[in-house]
Amino acid sequence: MSNKRLLGKTAVITGGGSGIGRAISLLFAKEGAFVHILELNTERADMLTDEIQASGGQAQAHVCDVSNQQSVLEVMARINTVDILVNNAGIAHVGDVEHTNETDFDRIYTVNVKGAYNMLYAVVPRMKKQGAGAILNMASIAALVGITDRFAYSTSKGAIYAMTLSIARDYLHHGIRCNSISPARVHTPFVDGFIAKNYPGQEAEMFEKLSKTQPIGRMAQPDEIASMALFLCSDEAGFITGNDYPVDGGFVKLNN
Ligand SMILES: NC(=O)c1ccc[n+]([C@@H]2O[C@H](COP(=O)([O-])OP(=O)(O)OC[C@H]3O[C@@H](n4cnc5c(N)ncnc54)[C@H](O)[C@@H]3O)[C@@H](O)[C@H]2O)c1
Repeated sequence: MSNKRLLGKTAVITGGGSGIGRAISLLFAKEGAFVHILELNTERADMLTDEIQASGGQAQAHVCDVSNQQSVLEVMARINTVDILVNNAGIAHVGDVEHTNETDFDRIYTVNVKGAYNMLYAVVPRMKKQGAGAILNMASIAALVGITDRFAYSTSKGAIYAMTLSIARDYLHHGIRCNSISPARVHTPFVDGFIAKNYPGQEAEMFEKLSKTQPIGRMAQPDEIASMALFLCSDEAGFITGNDYPVDGGFVKLNN
């Protein structure tokens, strides 16, 4: 008998082509799930799908902008069962409220908050019909503690934290579990990208500085977030819903 933890499950992972989403897609496929990767970046999603299939896993890439409800509904119409939804796609912005203009704020809100809502709007009814489902939202330590210069991003992740509770409460008696993970800094293209954009010429110094903000002394690797995601989306976590799990190298509780 196989001991794969997601055998026979179908998972939908947004932003699955890079960083944390990529690590989750690879691990879920390795554990037997059929993985649907919803991505803005087709090239990355196609490459990952090829990689998963080459190692004997099952995956399909879908071009999708999660911030656009029509795009989400069109993609989801092509997918039948959804046992697991991982709302992972997200973008960053650096700035306090005085350095966050309306365009910045709308962009962050539309992808990080409305994107998760669009996915839930499409997926929850079918999980309800199935009487089962596991949903995982990617929040952030920015939802839990005050982080300098992350006004719009923190606001969006606070919304994800609350959205998790709302879904968990409303669908408690429909067999749907909903949890979130709050990573501290994870070494992904997301982090490299915002360092390059916001601190040009000081990349190495900023990388070191950001690494040290985790009391453990480094950033997480994407795999370390994926292993928590696997547990929370597996049947082993059947008694867990409505909770947030910081995977943070001590960031929230030990930074004193
Ligand atoms: N990296 C970190 O330090 C960190 C820390 C805490 C939380 N997070 C959260 O984890 C999630 C993943 O972050 P990451 O570091 O892996 O990022 P990443 O930039 O490496 O990957 C994000 C992926 O999402 C895709 N994406 C962006 N907008 C999209 C859209 N509108 N529709 C579909 N796909 C879209 C991108 O193409 C990209 O492939 C994000 O929600 C982020 O806020 C990251």
